[in-house]
Amino acid sequence: MLNKNIRTQEIDHQWCIAEEKFSIDTNKHFEGLFTQGNGYMHIRGSFEEGLESTVQDEEYLRMPVNVTLEKPRHPKTKWGTFIPGIVGIHPLLKMEMINLPYFLELDFCVMGEKLDMEQCKIREYKRWLDLRDGCLHRGFIWETKAGLHLKLQYLRFISMADKHLSIQQVHIQALSGEGNLAMDGGINWGVRTNGYNHFKAVRTAVDDATFISAETITDGGNRVLMISSMEASEEIFADKVTDSKKVMYHGNKPMKAGDYFTIQKVTSVVTDRDNEAGFLEERGKNYLAVVQEQGYEKLYERHLQAWTEKWRASDIKITGDDKVQLAMRASIYHLIRSNCENDSRVAICAKGYAGEAYFGRYFWDTEINMLPFFLHTNPEAARNLILFRYNTLEGAKKNARAYGYEGARYAWESSITGEEQCPCWQYGDHEVHITADIIYAMVHYVNGTGDMDFIRDYGIDMMVETARYWVQRVDWNKEGYYELLGVMGPDEYLPMTRNNVYTNRMVKFSLSKTIEYLEILRNENEIGYLELKHRLGLNSHEIEKFEEVKEKLKISYDESSEIIFQSDDFKSYADLDFNTIWKDRTKPFGDFISQEKNYRSKALKQADVLEMILLYPQDFTSQQLSHNYDYYEPITTHDSSLSAAVHGILAAWMGRMEEAEKFLEKVVAIDMSLEKKGAAEGIHIANCGGLWQMVVYGFAGLKSAMWESEIKLEPHLPGTWEKVEIPIMWHGKQYRLIVTKDSYEVREES
Ligand code: BGC
Repeated sequence: MLNKNIRTQEIDHQWCIAEEKFSIDTNKHFEGLFTQGNGYMHIRGSFEEGLESTVQDEEYLRMPVNVTLEKPRHPKTKWGTFIPGIVGIHPLLKMEMINLPYFLELDFCVMGEKLDMEQCKIREYKRWLDLRDGCLHRGFIWETKAGLHLKLQYLRFISMADKHLSIQQVHIQALSGEGNLAMDGGINWGVRTNGYNHFKAVRTAVDDATFISAETITDGGNRVLMISSMEASEEIFADKVTDSKKVMYHGNKPMKAGDYFTIQKVTSVVTDRDNEAGFLEERGKNYLAVVQEQGYEKLYERHLQAWTEKWRASDIKITGDDKVQLAMRASIYHLIRSNCENDSRVAICAKGYAGEAYFGRYFWDTEINMLPFFLHTNPEAARNLILFRYNTLEGAKKNARAYGYEGARYAWESSITGEEQCPCWQYGDHEVHITADIIYAMVHYVNGTGDMDFIRDYGIDMMVETARYWVQRVDWNKEGYYELLGVMGPDEYLPMTRNNVYTNRMVKFSLSKTIEYLEILRNENEIGYLELKHRLGLNSHEIEKFEEVKEKLKISYDESSEIIFQSDDFKSYADLDFNTIWKDRTKPFGDFISQEKNYRSKALKQADVLEMILLYPQDFTSQQLSHNYDYYEPITTHDSSLSAAVHGILAAWMGRMEEAEKFLEKVVAIDMSLEKKGAAEGIHIANCGGLWQMVVYGFAGLKSAMWESEIKLEPHLPGTWEKVEIPIMWHGKQYRLIVTKDSYEVREES
């Protein structure tokens, strides 16, 4: 029984996200925000009993459209059980992460009245996620129609230490009245992913003594086995039943005032994709046996210990701003949870495995928005994320071939194979910057850790193959330079531009680093270098070509440019009167303009030139920064969640603190605001990395490890902040940055 040690009662508002009262309007938002997980598996914060008014297995055809502006299905609730790497093919949307059977189900019924948060009479409702240990709590009093009043207290966690285990507990107490309480608990495969059925078959088993199980065969060819065992402080669960959607334990207990008991349910989840030896069933049962042998307390202690270690390496303490403090911790919690740190066959998907919206796909979000957090709190995890790109290099080569090029072209939307999954041509065909973003992130990792072995073992292959792609993707202009035509930059509201300056800068960087590293490898080991050339089929002409394209690729700015135009054709797009068009600024700008008009106008979805300034700060003077900020900010809609943090960091760099704080508020609201309900479709995990960057790069003013070999700070703290403390890994050493209004300290820790 989980009674001691666990933090059950008190809600610490610097550490707990609390839902103080139930509202159906925010239910889906909290489901996303309360997602639990441990890298290996993830489950949205849905109620154990579901909501009667919404079925989870509705079938419909989700169409490939702009996800940012799409109106989601299921406004009230959507279960979500995800295992990174378990994917299937959707007929229109291509490869998507499969929403797996829901193994948390626990239903209560008193004299024909089913427990349902929306329909029953509920008092003193409270639910909260404790970020310290990832435990989700719920408590309320249910006044049943039969007159039996029950107090229920729920607790559940996905173990951070024993990655295959989920633990649930419910304590039930009768306050007044009497009546029969019927209970069901088990596994429910009445679940569809984006309206599509990816389950080929489900095989159930019921063991009279100890467990129930459901083995799902997916259309991606995987086997996913869930085994649940349920027990109560009294013998209750005598029956086990199976129907077309569920396998369940069933029990009854007559209750009268003063009676109480506790239910525990533990589930082990294993798949044929796990890097583990042994038969599925045997492994699943072995994990359950651990619980039996060691008991719940021990299991919780190990879980808590694992979370405590993660927090030791990553917790940012902010004195003077409780709201941002909680949001910062929520972001760190989701980043840690989303990261499958020992498995480089997967990365972190755009919704942080907390919703179906982006199909479980990997974007540039990982490299540009999230990587800095991992680089400075868990460099092994950062390495693993880049290794994922090496592991999917074959897919990237296929993409290049599919477009008629040699080399490797990383997918704008990648799944586990690296092949392009983006179903919309605008992004899939034209948002090519990701191929160079990946190389940028790899160099950032190497510069921050000194891990040159990564380049030797993997990175150089990625660099040479992507360079091969770039030298073919460019076009020669008679004026005497190379250019990149038909490109969508980070700003997704201009689909086919000429020389997007961000992209060209990234490609130039990528090519110059490729040449530089080839040179380093040649100088350090002539024979090794010859082997490398042989292995990659690389000859001197090719390297000369890399050099030539790097030198002659158009970069349309220099130190004298006041405004750096996003693309050569940027000025020719139409000007818009934002105040007339954008009637309600709580909604995306894109809702108020047709795509056709948007695509020919100067309205940015997100930071583009400013993103480049953030990534290459040394290229620009402070005047250029402020001129470009003033030019672009008023025409940027921030319809993408990747935008606000970039603006906030640059505003802080310029010391425009009011502006920076406005963006801080925006960044925090993206997933935390009850009005926006932004977490409903999943966590904006890039923005979580964005908040980390805003605090570390923006307010504490840490200079990027990309460009600095030593820790350097130039702080600008927001008005109310007294102090911020940040743990940072830098070249293998642990430091603590302590920044106050008028001083800062960089403390080396042992
Ligand atoms: C943004 C992209 C981002 C993607 C996934 C889009 O709305 O415009 O920059 O990579 O979402 O988060």
